[in-house]
Amino acid sequence: MIGIDGSIRAARVFHVLWHGERIAHDVAVRQAAICDNAKAGRFFTLQASQESIHATVFHAATAMLAPRARMMLTNAVTALDTYRRHLAHDLERGHLVSTIIGLQIVLEGLGAFTLAHINLALSRYGARFAPYKRLLEQQEDTHHAFGCRWLAHKDAASITRMAADARRYFELAVRRDR
Ligand SMILES: [Fe+2]
Ligand SMILES: [Fe+2]
Repeated sequence: MIGIDGSIRAARVFHVLWHGERIAHDVAVRQAAICDNAKAGRFFTLQASQESIHATVFHAATAMLAPRARMMLTNAVTALDTYRRHLAHDLERGHLVSTIIGLQIVLEGLGAFTLAHINLALSRYGARFAPYKRLLEQQEDTHHAFGCRWLAHKDAASITRMAADARRYFELAVRRDR
């Protein structure tokens, strides 16, 4: 039988994912605005609309599992807030490539990994979430693949430079205190 602790644990994970989805939405909207490539711009706009739906799904899942929990301030949420500030900093300067590393490559990669490892059996509502989980996994994989394709077209010298610029995204991604 699934206890309250299991539901709260699952709600915490969904809350973190909700936070990440809102960041992904806001960043993709701004990427579309600063991008001068029409095809990529359409991708960012489509991504933003998908992230908005993802955020709604995770918000609903959090509220369903922990209806009385107003705030779930965890280390992961604090780390995501720092991450959002780095992305905002690069967006303000028009550094689109750094934000692609930060969002599509690192954050989407982490999101897809987290989603793939969610244990739906933790919650009695898990079966209801299963169809959404499959759809979200497909869409997050698409977002991540876009970032990987974008980098694949760059030469080795510029990848080295971009990796240095985007170092702090990777530093946050490998934090162990989350
Ligand atoms: Fe998403
Ligand atoms: Fe995504």
